[in-house]
Amino acid sequence: MGAYADFHRRSITDRDAFWTAEARRIDWHRPYDQVLDYSRPPFARWFVGGETNLCHNAVDRHLATRGDQLALVYISSETGTEQNFTYRELHAEVNCFAAVMAAQGVSRGDRVLLYMPMIPEAVFAMLACARLGAVHSVVFGGFAAASCATRIDDARPKLLVTADAGMRGGRAIHYKPLVDEAVRLAKHPPQQVLVVNRGIDRDFKPVPGRDLDYATLARQHAGAQVPVTWLESSEPSYILYTSGTTGRPKGVQRDTGGYAVALASSMEHIYAGKPGETMFTTSDVGWVVGHSYIVYGPLIHGMTTILYEGLPIRPDAGIWWKIVADHRVSVMFSSPTAARVLKKQDPAYLRKYDLSSLRHLFLAGEPLDEPTHRWIHEAIGKPVIDHYWQTETGWPILSLAPGIEPAKVKYGSPGFPVYGYDLKLLRESDMSEAQPGEKGVLTIAPPLPPGCMSTVWGDDERFVDTYFRTFPKQLLYSTFDWGVRDAEGYTFILGRTDDVINVAGHRIGTREIEEAVQSHPNIAEVAVVGVVDAVKGQMPLAFAVVKDAARIDTPAARAREEQEVMAAVDHQLGGIARPRRVYFVTLLPKTRSGKLLRRSLQALAEGRDPGDLTTIEDPTALEQIRGALSA
Ligand code: PRX
Repeated sequence: MGAYADFHRRSITDRDAFWTAEARRIDWHRPYDQVLDYSRPPFARWFVGGETNLCHNAVDRHLATRGDQLALVYISSETGTEQNFTYRELHAEVNCFAAVMAAQGVSRGDRVLLYMPMIPEAVFAMLACARLGAVHSVVFGGFAAASCATRIDDARPKLLVTADAGMRGGRAIHYKPLVDEAVRLAKHPPQQVLVVNRGIDRDFKPVPGRDLDYATLARQHAGAQVPVTWLESSEPSYILYTSGTTGRPKGVQRDTGGYAVALASSMEHIYAGKPGETMFTTSDVGWVVGHSYIVYGPLIHGMTTILYEGLPIRPDAGIWWKIVADHRVSVMFSSPTAARVLKKQDPAYLRKYDLSSLRHLFLAGEPLDEPTHRWIHEAIGKPVIDHYWQTETGWPILSLAPGIEPAKVKYGSPGFPVYGYDLKLLRESDMSEAQPGEKGVLTIAPPLPPGCMSTVWGDDERFVDTYFRTFPKQLLYSTFDWGVRDAEGYTFILGRTDDVINVAGHRIGTREIEEAVQSHPNIAEVAVVGVVDAVKGQMPLAFAVVKDAARIDTPAARAREEQEVMAAVDHQLGGIARPRRVYFVTLLPKTRSGKLLRRSLQALAEGRDPGDLTTIEDPTALEQIRGALSA
């Protein structure tokens, strides 16, 4: 048995000893009494009775040994800013932010909603929440006001932290007006909004009595020392909303101790980074990748982390590789979409810079097609490791683990089950284990390892019903992904089993998009499916039935209506969810019992055979779809 296989086996068969050793990687204020409490399946509580704090482990712990080492390097190719913070400086900034929040009454267990662009204050605010024992909920800046409002109502934050604006591709995105609208739409709005004013929005208007200016308050609290609030290991560190089959996003709740241990361990075994080195993760703080591998993971591991605001191809396609060269980056983490965007550029940009410091490039978030995997590997001449995980798990499920054993990369495969995960690939028909080469549903036998979600925020039942009820006879966590294993044990991901699509690495429920389309007053019925896109992986397409056909009786009128529907989606969800096209039909393909033939619709839209249509109510629906697509 290879070193990795043995390591994985021990993590499952000798769980307590395995995680006891890993738990030594972090500081405990009070030692835990029990490694795992699994007395209430499927709820797992890791390191029971132990007290720790994420901010202490990410910042304070390093002051003695690496106070003058860089902790955070901020680079914005949008504003031309570069700012460095040593661990000592980061400590001071976080204390100041924590003091400002504490002065507004934020304390242990309170929620703080962050709606922030990629600026250092986003990192300070997250760590400040952790310091105070407050629960942050970062909402991705690309989400529209209505989406932000739903999250406000679910999390009920005491405070909302935002900025005047973010920047993307040279364009300012005004955040504060979006927050104003979200607060207006919410039933449980926070009393206070703390604003980091970057001076980008010249029309910036604070709401008197509600909006607080961070710079002013920071001056008042400069030099403040805020003691760390020690949390019991299972107390929540954060909530992060993610999409599923319903229109209502789920608040993934993360614990404290298990998460810290899982991240610390993954930094060594999977990412093979060393304390003192630099990690560059190109994601956004609003996504799970940003939480785990821009902020907490690298800092807990004593690395320097890079926070980058901007695109991969501005000012040119060499920008990321210049950052790697300038900052001697040893671990990089990006997405397949970014690789496909770079693939369209001149490959000379990738050879222009000295990449000798780089050990591995990790990619995750969506399927990595073989040609792109091969291309980026050849272009940078370094191992490119595809790895697979979810917002729910917080850290990798499938990966190679070069920190334990060098492993052969297979194009198109994210590798092997990560230690801690008891993965099973099950046949859909009878739930028996799929054989090599046979497609199955990727499931995890609980308890889920440390770091994975503890529950759905405020809704234990939804946690069990959503993830553990796919298989009637056994308690198994469904990833909702199809997979297949080859004879050597490499797993390949074949796409989702549910109606979730993945647009440029952004996970969106088709149901959410359908609800947004339906917010347009002339839409009677709509079906949204994901179709293959050469760059973004997938794109939504909408097929809509209108109430008043007179509004679309000319080609110009149809085009106008299509634009309006797209605008409604932008308004409800944000531009990332906008359908590539909206096709108007008078009938959607359904079975005689009224179920939408979603797979057939998707197949037609991708130019494939629609499959078994014996149950269709009215075959002319398909003719209409074909006609619309070819028009
Ligand atoms: O369908 C899988 C896909 O993205 C989903 C999780 O997305 P999210 O919650 O945003 O978390 C991303 C964390 C990296 C999965 O259920 N997915 C993620 N990574 C891969 C992937 N599909 C194929 N290959 C991957 N490497």
